[in-house]
This record gives sequence, C-alpha cells and structure tokens, in this order.
Amino acid sequence: MSRTQIFIGNWKMHKTITETLSFIRELKPLVQAETSKVMLAIPYTSLQAGVQAAEKSNIVIGSQNVSDEHEGPFTGEISPWMLKDAGAEFTLIGHSERRHIFHENNEWIRAKVLRALKDDLMPVLCIGETLEQREKGKVESTLEQQVLTALRGVPKEEVQHFCLAYEPVWAIGTGKVATPEIAQKAHEFCRKALGEVFSHHIASKIPILYGGSVKPSNIAGLMDQPDIDGALIGGASLIVDSFVTIIREGSK
Ligand code: PGA
Repeated sequence: MSRTQIFIGNWKMHKTITETLSFIRELKPLVQAETSKVMLAIPYTSLQAGVQAAEKSNIVIGSQNVSDEHEGPFTGEISPWMLKDAGAEFTLIGHSERRHIFHENNEWIRAKVLRALKDDLMPVLCIGETLEQREKGKVESTLEQQVLTALRGVPKEEVQHFCLAYEPVWAIGTGKVATPEIAQKAHEFCRKALGEVFSHHIASKIPILYGGSVKPSNIAGLMDQPDIDGALIGGASLIVDSFVTIIREGSK
C-alpha cells in the first residue's frame, strides 16, 4: 500500500498556549522516528507557538476550521492565507461539530475546501452519518452526498494535498467506536465516491482516516483494514502518552 499513513490529533477547544508548548515539547522526541505523518489540529490562539515548538520535527500543525473568504468584513472569521501566515499547513473542514452546532452545510463546506486549496492549505474533509441516518439505511447516500457536493469542481491536480476523514457522528466522543468491519465498509464506499469525483486511480492514492472514539486499545484492529489509512483522534489526543501509543500501535 503506497498511501501515506496519517494520525491527526483534534484538540477541539482545549489547551492554552502554555499547555500547547509543553505537549509538543514532550511529543517531539517520541515521534521523531515515526514514518507516519503526525498532525495536530489546534486552537487558533496556539497556532504560532505550536508551529515554533514543532520546528525541526515531523509534527505538522493545522487548524480546526477556516473561512471560505479571503479577507473582508467577516467578524470572527479567519482565512486560509492568515492561517498559512501563522504557519499552519492544513485545516479540518466540515467536522461534525461544525456541521451540527454551527450549521455548516455541504455547499458551505465545499466553498471552504476550494478556498483552502486555492491558498495552498491542505483540507482534511470530515464526513459521516448520524445514528438516525444509519438506522434509516441512509449511510451510503449521506456519505455520497457529502463527498460529491464538497468536492464538486476541485481540480484533479489539487488532490495530492487533500485527505478525507470518515467520522460516524454516533462514534464521536461517545466511546462507541465503529467496528473495523463497519468502518472498512464505509471507507470502501468513500473511496468509490472519490473515484467518481476524480478517477479510481487518484482515489486509490487519497488517505482516508477513521475518527470516532479511537483509543490505544482499538486502533490496531481499525488499521488492519485495507482502506483505513490513519485516524482523526479527539479525546485520546489530549494526552501525550495515549496519542503516541495510538500512532505506534496504528503504524502498519
Ligand atoms: P473522539 O473525537 O476521538 O473524542 O471521539 C474525534 C473527533 O471529533 O474528531
């Protein structure tokens, strides 16, 4: 398998600048020899300090959200080129908390993906079905719509700076991880949908990460699946020890 393996910590609204610095200083030597990509999606306020602390390491720093605008009268928003200026290299887009709490829809998410790519900030597009959608048999139609809408009009050349994260909403922060088989089925379907947007050859190269209650105890089983190329980790990424164990246990 030639796809890059990626482990992203999603800190959500956690950690001050001081806490960020001590986390990254502790993490740095522990992941120095890792061949997988180690990434941290951290609060805006910690970006610059986090980037400086991660210098001369293989830790990549990014944000959890981004504006779909370049600049202008958009109070409270932060654009991709501002994030780049602060040293961020990637951003999460369309995380389920953004979709459900802040009402982001697929079209808005698409605008963010296009803007991020234009400004050379790697988008990590997050998708996933709710429990209700799963119970109504709408997993595939939901994922298909999320992928096809968010990636409409994305140029093929841009996808080397792109990855997808499948996060079933019912598994996020609940302790209910998807079984490796359920996750694999969804990943396989997502890769098929990516193939429809780009080509099957291109889709075979795009990393697809699993997210939702990933822990040191369940990562190995997930990573054994052929279409799972890494993880997006919330709660368990807040402690150096559990984050590092997930990366080590998960690296194939
Ligand atoms: P969790 O969060 O690992 O705490 O379930 C994952 C995420 O929201 O990205």
